[in-house]
Amino acid sequence: MTYPTAPAGYRPAPALLQGKVVLVTGAGDGIGRAAALAYAAHGATVILLGRTESKLEQVYDAIEAAGGPKPALVTLDLASATEDSVIHLANALAEEFPHLDGLLHNASVLGERRPIESASYAGWQEVMQVNVNAQFLLTRHLLPLLQAAPAASIIFTSSGVGRTGKAYWGAYAVSKFATEGFMQVLASELENTSRVRVNSLNPGATNTAMRRTAYPAERPTDNPAPEDIMATYLFLMGDDSVGVTGRAFNAR
Ligand SMILES: NC(=O)c1ccc[n+]([C@@H]2O[C@H](COP(=O)([O-])OP(=O)(O)OC[C@H]3O[C@@H](n4cnc5c(N)ncnc54)[C@H](OP(=O)(O)O)[C@@H]3O)[C@@H](O)[C@H]2O)c1
Repeated sequence: MTYPTAPAGYRPAPALLQGKVVLVTGAGDGIGRAAALAYAAHGATVILLGRTESKLEQVYDAIEAAGGPKPALVTLDLASATEDSVIHLANALAEEFPHLDGLLHNASVLGERRPIESASYAGWQEVMQVNVNAQFLLTRHLLPLLQAAPAASIIFTSSGVGRTGKAYWGAYAVSKFATEGFMQVLASELENTSRVRVNSLNPGATNTAMRRTAYPAERPTDNPAPEDIMATYLFLMGDDSVGVTGRAFNAR
């Protein structure tokens, strides 16, 4: 099976996201950090959500130093986020922003890499909480703000093991299959009734902390840096992808 990417040679306009408000989860590190910086560099006001405040502050400072629009910062640990805390967040954002133009679900945890027969239930639950349940809560409670935008985009982050199952990838792989399913269900519900489009995106092997943990024997620099895979992240977030929904993309 082949998956689409951004159109060949895609060059996003410098002002692609001018005036848009975009929330990125896991914005403090890895691919989420690169996406937050790329979105801000293309004009978006980025809401940086993550669990480690110091990392978010560094991204905040980098956006300001580059002359990007002033970001917002939300420290929230998705492993312990409750429905009340997410409702509180949604209400706070609604007071500050009239609408939300984009939501990049990027934060995930890898969890245990071991056979199902020896997997722990606690490890399973943590992965499902961060990678699936928190995505539901954020989507569910931010949807009104997304629907208030002229054309909003939700991007779910997938993985190769969320499209073809693989031994020892356990809860992580299952959580990514759930993510693909969530994308399809939501896209189908919104297709004819809403201006919110919904797609999934598999970044592919990328040189981040998660990849280095999953493949300790690999030479990290054999994989692209997060900032080198941003074309499809930009394509799906900006208006160039209006009308595209319910599809599973690859970043490259
Ligand atoms: N890198 C790859 O090769 C690859 C391949 C396929 C798919 N992906 C997917 O791409 C996405 C980004 O991965 P990455 O490689 O950039 O991973 P990463 O370097 O581990 O970064 C993950 C980000 O998510 C945040 N996060 C984790 N748990 C969280 C929690 N409980 N609450 C809030 N934030 C949390 C992390 O925060 P801290 O910095 O505070 O830990 C970090 O900023 C993930 O969905 C991953 O599954 C990556």
